[in-house]
Amino acid sequence: MKITKICCIGAGYVGGPTMSVIASQCPEIQVTVVDLSKERIDLWNHSDLDKLPVYEPGLKELVEKTRGKNLFFSTEIDKAIDEAEMIFISVNTPTKTYGKGKGQAADLKNIELCARNIAKVAKTNKIVVEKSTLPVRTASAIKSILDNTGNGVDFEILSNPEFLAEGTAIDDLLNADRVLIGGAETEKGQTAKDALAGIYQHWLPKDRILQTNVWSSELSKLVANAFLAQRVSSINSISALCEKTDANVAEVSRAIGYDSRIGAKFLNSSVGFGGSCFQKDILNLVYIAQSYGLQEVADYWEQVIIMNDYQKRRFAENIVTTLYNTVSGKKIVFYGWAFKKDTNDTRESAAIYVADALLDEKAEIVIYDPKVPESQVYEDLDYLGTRSPEENRRLLKVVNDPLKASEEAHAIAILTEWDEFKNYDWKIIYDKMLKPAFVFDGRRLLEKDTMQEIGFEYYKIGQS
Ligand code: NAD
Ligand code: UDX
Repeated sequence: MKITKICCIGAGYVGGPTMSVIASQCPEIQVTVVDLSKERIDLWNHSDLDKLPVYEPGLKELVEKTRGKNLFFSTEIDKAIDEAEMIFISVNTPTKTYGKGKGQAADLKNIELCARNIAKVAKTNKIVVEKSTLPVRTASAIKSILDNTGNGVDFEILSNPEFLAEGTAIDDLLNADRVLIGGAETEKGQTAKDALAGIYQHWLPKDRILQTNVWSSELSKLVANAFLAQRVSSINSISALCEKTDANVAEVSRAIGYDSRIGAKFLNSSVGFGGSCFQKDILNLVYIAQSYGLQEVADYWEQVIIMNDYQKRRFAENIVTTLYNTVSGKKIVFYGWAFKKDTNDTRESAAIYVADALLDEKAEIVIYDPKVPESQVYEDLDYLGTRSPEENRRLLKVVNDPLKASEEAHAIAILTEWDEFKNYDWKIIYDKMLKPAFVFDGRRLLEKDTMQEIGFEYYKIGQS
């Protein structure tokens, strides 16, 4: 079966980059990305490519090459569904904030809306692809909605979870370690899986495209994120021990990572993992395990989150303790607000929680991030609901000049590993700050000896 028209519902961090890559690699396929948000679609269609709603290295070049040729961004959802043979659902599936499973389960409201919309509009057979990360067995719910509310056409449901990481999305998509396709173990299911595999085969070797049953595919996505996050929490737990024992966490990471059974990746100790996926997906895994009565399994994975919360809290508490047990009225500058470098995404960024803890102590915080706008910083803090929006704006400011920000500062905290922070003239920064001048490096970005030679009181996570 040859696919000529694709629709992707959800023009976010996954839908946008993924469809840009498909469009660029499959010029004969027309790809339409749709979204309920007119504002987002307008930005995807903006003539100034620096205004795209997602910042990813290499993305704007792909959009420039394909937009208006075989890549389209639109709010005409029904039209795009009607025309496509294959529909990707790539909407957000955040943690539930209400009702049963609040704080743990994935909120599937958007998924159900998409399924009902597809059922209503479809007049020809469709392959529906779950691109969003979903709890295991969601495909059966989607199938039930489609079959019970549709117009009698055939729907084949595939699970095709996305493994890209933000900041490296385009490279991850173009050189994916693997693509996972789950589907029904029937003739029709196989035809659908092969059709989707055919798209990826435009640029990936066949042996990197794995086919499984639909449940294994749905579950594997949650498990992959849980394993990756678990490595970060594991090394972060050791960072606390290193600080007490004069061991150096970077040396420990290197020493264990040389063992090919362990491997070197995802062993960078930090102020704690953030991002829209790790916490949400582990909480979801915990909830699923609990709902099957597997309490020990749930407790095991929950510990990854508990350790991550501890790491963020520990970092904030260390700032307070080091600054003579009070930060009240003290200016603390944050370099970085995004959850990692090379993205403008701030969801679940450790910076939000460290700021919240320091604001509780009445610190005066100044934020500089090269890609995150002021409005986003306030939105993130207001969302926590810890204090009024007015107080957040009174105590915390967002600036565009990192060097000016350091004037009269008591401390600088590095929360994101942006490359530019490494290249600053730290001597100039030192001269502008109050003395003693403290730097709390939550990303292990700078050299301890160099910083101490300049005169800084320098604290690096995982190193005494
Ligand atoms: P996002 O919030 O950036 O984008 C989702 C988009 O879907 C939004 O623009 C929203 O307006 C739109 N939307 C929601 N409901 C809709 C509906 N009914 N009709 C039309 N549009 C609708 O989210 P994201 O980061 O792209 O994540 C999408 C999914 O992919 C999630 O399930 C996430 O877990 C998963 N995922 C994300 C990443 C990542 O790095 N962000 C990586 C892998 C998987
Ligand atoms: C993650 C998964 O890597 C990706 O496969 C999945 O599709 C989505 O979730 P993402 O959250 O975009 O991707 O970024 P990732 O590189 O995994 O980093 C997540 C968080 O962990 C960041 O805050 C990062 O700074 C932190 N991290 C990562 C560490 O603290 N140490 C590490 O060694 C690696």
